[in-house]
Amino acid sequence: MTGKKAKDTVLIIFGATGDLTKRKLIPALYKLYYNNKLGKNTQIVGVARRKLTKEQFYDLLNFNEFITNANKKSLEKFKNLISYFSLDFNNPKHKLFGNFIEKIGQKTNNKIFYLAVSPTLFKPVVEIIQSSDFLRRAGWKRIIIEKPFGHDLESATTLNSFISSVSNESNIYRIDHYLGKELVENIMVFRFANTIFEQTWNKNFVDNIQITTAETLGVGTRAGYYDKTGAIRDMVQNHILQVLSLTAMEPPKSMKPDDIRDEKVKVLRAVERVKSDDVVIGQYKRGMINGEPVPAYVDEENIPKTSKTETFAAIKFLINNDRWKGVPFYVRTGKRLGKKYAEVNIVLKDISCDLFYKDNKSPKQNVITLRIQPYEGISIFFNSKQPGHGMNLEPVIMDFCHKCKFGLNTPEAYEHLLYDILIDDQTLFTRWDGNETSWKIIDPILDNIRKGNKLCLYSAGSSGPKEAEELLKREGRKWIVTPDLSHKDEWKK
Ligand code: BG6
Repeated sequence: MTGKKAKDTVLIIFGATGDLTKRKLIPALYKLYYNNKLGKNTQIVGVARRKLTKEQFYDLLNFNEFITNANKKSLEKFKNLISYFSLDFNNPKHKLFGNFIEKIGQKTNNKIFYLAVSPTLFKPVVEIIQSSDFLRRAGWKRIIIEKPFGHDLESATTLNSFISSVSNESNIYRIDHYLGKELVENIMVFRFANTIFEQTWNKNFVDNIQITTAETLGVGTRAGYYDKTGAIRDMVQNHILQVLSLTAMEPPKSMKPDDIRDEKVKVLRAVERVKSDDVVIGQYKRGMINGEPVPAYVDEENIPKTSKTETFAAIKFLINNDRWKGVPFYVRTGKRLGKKYAEVNIVLKDISCDLFYKDNKSPKQNVITLRIQPYEGISIFFNSKQPGHGMNLEPVIMDFCHKCKFGLNTPEAYEHLLYDILIDDQTLFTRWDGNETSWKIIDPILDNIRKGNKLCLYSAGSSGPKEAEELLKREGRKWIVTPDLSHKDEWKK
């Protein structure tokens, strides 16, 4: 984030009584306010169906729980920026709403519309925006959309045409919160600002690339959404394909948002159609996580006992371009796994000479690990000589710990993303052609699943179904097991 202060704006959050507003948006906006990054006449309006007074809305936002380390005085001042309007999206009182926004935003015509609503409400909310007078005033109008952006290519295309009817692409911000994570943004710097890595980042040196996003949490209170969605739509279509495209893209012509997004889309376009055999889907059975028993997916609240929704997916992608031809990109994601982490592993080829091959002391393949969370940083695994007589090898780690170097002051993903919207920087937001191409990759995978990919059960607390291990084993490879860093002193501080 730069030091630039944002211009005044009225930020209107539709669906403001949902979890996202209190957990992510309000804390992020408070941090921006506290760091003097918001324009001084900025206003935040929560809009939702529930009839609430401003005070009741504040209670619901529960500032004290969700804003950590708040400064009491500044928090009180920050609250004054927030108001609430109750609106039935399916039967809106346009005039009253328009007047309310007019009054709130007397000092600025700039508006940001944040659609934090379920996809079924996108259309009515877009119609509210469309029919409001303030759309026709001077000042910029930006639209923010949370995922899921569609359920498949067709629904995403329909949704996109609604949104495009009130705004052009340059004012649409599709949020993928993974792009706001510091270590995801760092991928480009790591690759393109370091000769040592960029030279090896291709099919001549890389054996395979692995992307994992693992969670310990289950479906939580989102049964209605998740059971219709599943892991592939929830995580692969967006977060994982975004990380994959940053990992595999060519250097952009410049750091301008569209140059970067052009290169990301080119990679997605080069992804080959995925074969049915290259997809493993799973669902969790009951098990233990951190010493606690957890129920099976089908025993979670509001999940049908017969549900066949996947809570785990492992997929092999191939990218048909000069840099990556023949290099598998294995990705996996799952809920209720043994630990929560997200990382990219670049596994380099075996060394070509056989100088050191003997017994079980052979050199191991070099691995570069980009740790997105929770131990943000980068590790390089390489072979070293054990001290003493003889030429015995041992893999060692060279480690960059992000927190140790930069402290804990790095902004959270939402703080970063909201700030970028305020200062009109679209780099970290997905463009429609990127979204469209992702669905073109995912739709055939989902079609094959409907035709009969087996749903493999795995115990909660494990690393996923054994079939996901097989996916690599049959090609003579293994998933990289990430070392446990929780005991390391630098992470305890
Ligand atoms: C969201 C998914 O986009 O990402 C959730 O809808 C998932 O199901 C979450 O839990 C994971 O995000 P993070 O930042 O915790 O890895």
